Amino acid sequence: MIPIVVLASGRGSNFEAIHRAVSRGQLQGVEIQAVLSDRPDAGALVRARELGIPTLCVPFVKGTHQRESHGQLLLEALAPLQPRFLILAGYMRVLSPKVIQAFRDSRGYSRIVNIHPSLLPSFPGVNSYAQAYHYGVKVTGVTVHLVEEGVDMGPICAQQAFSIQDCHSEKEVETLGLALEHQLFPETLNWLVQEKFQIEKLPQGRLCVRKN
Ligand code: GRF
Repeated sequence: MIPIVVLASGRGSNFEAIHRAVSRGQLQGVEIQAVLSDRPDAGALVRARELGIPTLCVPFVKGTHQRESHGQLLLEALAPLQPRFLILAGYMRVLSPKVIQAFRDSRGYSRIVNIHPSLLPSFPGVNSYAQAYHYGVKVTGVTVHLVEEGVDMGPICAQQAFSIQDCHSEKEVETLGLALEHQLFPETLNWLVQEKFQIEKLPQGRLCVRKN
């Protein structure tokens, strides 16, 4: 079994989609060891408890913690579990370089995976469905990528686009996007965690993850 820990700050619908895929055998060979949050009140923790998945909380205390010190606490909380992958499913903190460094495979590639609600490199950061809606783009999408230093910067593993030209609110864009996230994330994790991929260096230095 490949041990993973899911990190989530919010309601946890992506965690649930991953859990569902594991239960149905669509995401094979994976054991969700725990859901970890920086927010004690995260819906993801409530849902994990209901599903019988262990939970961990490493709160980020403003004025006390910096990214580095919080990262250290995160590593200490994860140490007994020794997960092979960290799966960021709506985790709203930027990880410290030390955390990123602690999760690299033998080739030096990141074993931390994130889902981002836009077609990166468009609309990085927060509220990306709203950003896309207010920009007036006709198409947006979702991206699964490996986590490197820099916000929403790592090598792209999978993307899926959808049309938003008939959407009349941010909420409509989000509803369409979340439904896609819930399919694309488990589907992509299925080959990523089994390391059935290659990484290609593109001419200008970017890395590109290709499924075998
Ligand atoms: C998702 O839109 C995800 O792409 C983004 O944060 C949101 C988390 O939603 N990073 P949920 O907590 O998984 O429902």
